[in-house]
Formats: sequence, structure tokens, C-alpha cells
Amino acid sequence: MHTSDQPIFAPFEFQRGLRLKNRIIMAPMTHMSSNPDGSISEQELTYYMRRASGVSMVITAATWVSEAGGLPGAAGADRDAFIPGLRRLASSIQAQGAAAVLQIFHAGRQSSRTGDYVSAGPIPEDKEGAAIPRELTEAEIPAIIRAFGEAAGRAVDAGFDGVEIHGGNGNLLHQFFSPYTNRRNDRYGGTLRKRMALALAIIEEVQRTVRSRAVKPFIVGYRLSPEEPGTPGITMSDTLAFADALTDSGLDYIHISLNDFRSVPRRGADSSRSRLSIMQERYGHRIPIIGVGGVHTPSDATLAMQTGIPLLAVGRQLVMEPDWMKLAAEGREGKIKTTLTSNDQQLLDIPDSMWSLISSIPGWFPFERHSEK
Ligand SMILES: Cc1cc2nc3c(=O)[nH]c(=O)nc-3n(C[C@H](O)[C@H](O)[C@H](O)COP(=O)(O)O)c2cc1C
Repeated sequence: MHTSDQPIFAPFEFQRGLRLKNRIIMAPMTHMSSNPDGSISEQELTYYMRRASGVSMVITAATWVSEAGGLPGAAGADRDAFIPGLRRLASSIQAQGAAAVLQIFHAGRQSSRTGDYVSAGPIPEDKEGAAIPRELTEAEIPAIIRAFGEAAGRAVDAGFDGVEIHGGNGNLLHQFFSPYTNRRNDRYGGTLRKRMALALAIIEEVQRTVRSRAVKPFIVGYRLSPEEPGTPGITMSDTLAFADALTDSGLDYIHISLNDFRSVPRRGADSSRSRLSIMQERYGHRIPIIGVGGVHTPSDATLAMQTGIPLLAVGRQLVMEPDWMKLAAEGREGKIKTTLTSNDQQLLDIPDSMWSLISSIPGWFPFERHSEK
């Protein structure tokens, strides 16, 4: 097959009219390098611009909707003063030819920004010294729903092409969906349907805000983690029911957060098939599904797309090889860099804090030992 005939190079159009030049998306990756106040930094603009030219869409690092749900080094979208920086971020990405999607989130019990740890229930994170979060009262929840809507409105004003509501990777919306962290018995917990209620209310509010403000096609996506290892915990059958509700909610896409696109369900569904192919078979005809996880080479990407998913996100590999798409398009797969050396930070425009983070967690990124040449 001629390189440019590969499925990853085919254009794609969302129902709402946003056109993508190909099927590869830059996955959201927290770089911890926004300014201390939550505004966009020069370093992060350089990092994104270096990676945005080949992919068709960039989903930004998780950006907080209220400071109590933020992380140090993350950007915020909770006040109008951040709009000029967000506008520079959107236009820097778009100037490279990619659509720009702002990922918006509330970290809940993972948030260490203000010291007010909140969650669905008083269950701490499973790590040494983790704070016991305060259970959010029912009366506090409407302000969080509004905060998501307002953050999405600022993304519209800043010229983004969409927002992705982050409901995966253990943040607040994940905490509400999980029967492990959600032990409530009000309208936000107690049954599977009620554990979805916060996410669905936020989606509705975000869509309402966006539809009243957007003057060009603007997409709204949702990212989820399909399973948790423990019991109680999110099962694949919970996620299939959730995906059904998400599909009905009028979203533009669902993004399945995985570390490996090949991974199979632990429980609650056929474990002889990948989670991605199960999701695609059940919902792919109703809503575009974005897959992700462990894509390093164009051959990996082609394999992932054989599940039938229309769009694929790539994370770590774009950190290591900003020219991934260019090399793939030229058929130079062998030239793609799939490891890091300790000299690579400046070469690859990786922000300082991101570099410290990724080089301090063994096994997360493949580092070559003999790097000091
Ligand atoms: C440094 C780093 C930061 C990440 N931050 C986020 C984030 O802010 N939001 C999110 O949804 N996922 C985040 N992820 C997960 C990635 O989007 C992706 O799902 C994961 O890395 C697997 O894809 P990959 O194998 O292509 O890297 C992060 C991953 C990395 C490596």
C-alpha cells in the first residue's frame, strides 16, 4: 500500500462540520509547565507548536474549571483573565494546521492546588499519605456543573475548536462514576444511572453554553477510563451502559483512555476481544470513538485502526518524536525515535517540569542508558 493510502492519512469530518486532515490526534498530556497562576506559558506554547504540525487535532493538557480542582503547573479556564493566553494556545496550534481542543477537568481528591480535597465520598487515593477527601454536598454540585459550562464558554471565546470533558484517569467525574469512590445515596449515587448523573449534567451544561456562544463548528467530547482493577470498581459492563447514555447525550465523540489499545476487559464483557473493538462494535455506528495507548509506529496505528475506530490519539510517542507524522507520511518508519536519552530535553522542546516528571518515573518513558556520548 502506498504510504499516503494508509487509513491514518484519510481526512475525517465530525457531524458538526469540523474537518480533520487525518486520523491522528495528539493525546492530552499534563506537562506541569503552565505559569504558577494557571496562565499559559511560553514554554508550553513552544512544546505544542513543535508537535502540532503533522497531527490533525491537539487535545491539550487537562485544564482546571475551578482552582479547587486544579493541579500545580496546570492551566486554568476558571476566569476571563486567562482567555488571552488560551487564545494564544488555540491559535498557535491552529497555525500549524491542527484543530485545537481544550481538555477541561476537576481533579477532585487528586487536586493539590488549594488543599480542599473533595470527592464523591471520603475515600482517599491509594497512596502513602493521601488526604481523606471531603464528600461534596448535593448543594455544592451545581457550582461545579456551572464551572464546566463557563470554562467551555471561555474555550469558545478563545477560539478553540472544541472541548474534551475529562471523565477518566481518576479525576472527579471518574470518582463519581466509580462505585469504589462513590458511596452516596442521593441523586448522584446509589445506582449505576445515578453515578452517571454528574457527568450527564455537565455534558448538558457544556453543550448549552457552547451552542449559545459558538460561531463556528465546535465539538464536545468525553474521555473515560473503561475499567478499574478492584471490586467494587468500574467494570466493562458499567462502561458499556455509560457509553450508551453518553451516545444519547449528543456528544461529538467518546475518547477511551487506555495505556494499551490492545488491552482486553478484565470482567463484564468478552475478554477475548479488545476493549476498543467492543466499544467500536457497540457504539461506533452512533458516535466517533477515539482510541489511544501504546502506539509507537505507523504499523501500530494501522493495527489499532483495524478495530474500526475512526480516530486515534498518540501521546508518549509524540513527546519522543515530534515529527512522527511527517516520517510516517514519508514512509521513513525506521527513522522514528522510540526512546529518549538524557540529552533530549532541549532538542525536543520538552518543558522543564514535564522533563523532571517523565524522567523520574521508571518505565513510563523508555530512556536509553548510554546517552552521554
Ligand atoms: C506525561 C503525561 C501526561 C498525561 N496527562 C494527561 C492528561 O492531562 N489528561 C488525560 O486525559 N490523559 C493524560 N495522559 C494520558 C495520555 O493521554 C494517554 O492516554 C496515555 O499516555 C497512553 O497513550 P500513549 O501510549 O500514546 O502515551 C498523560 C500521559 C502522559 C504520558
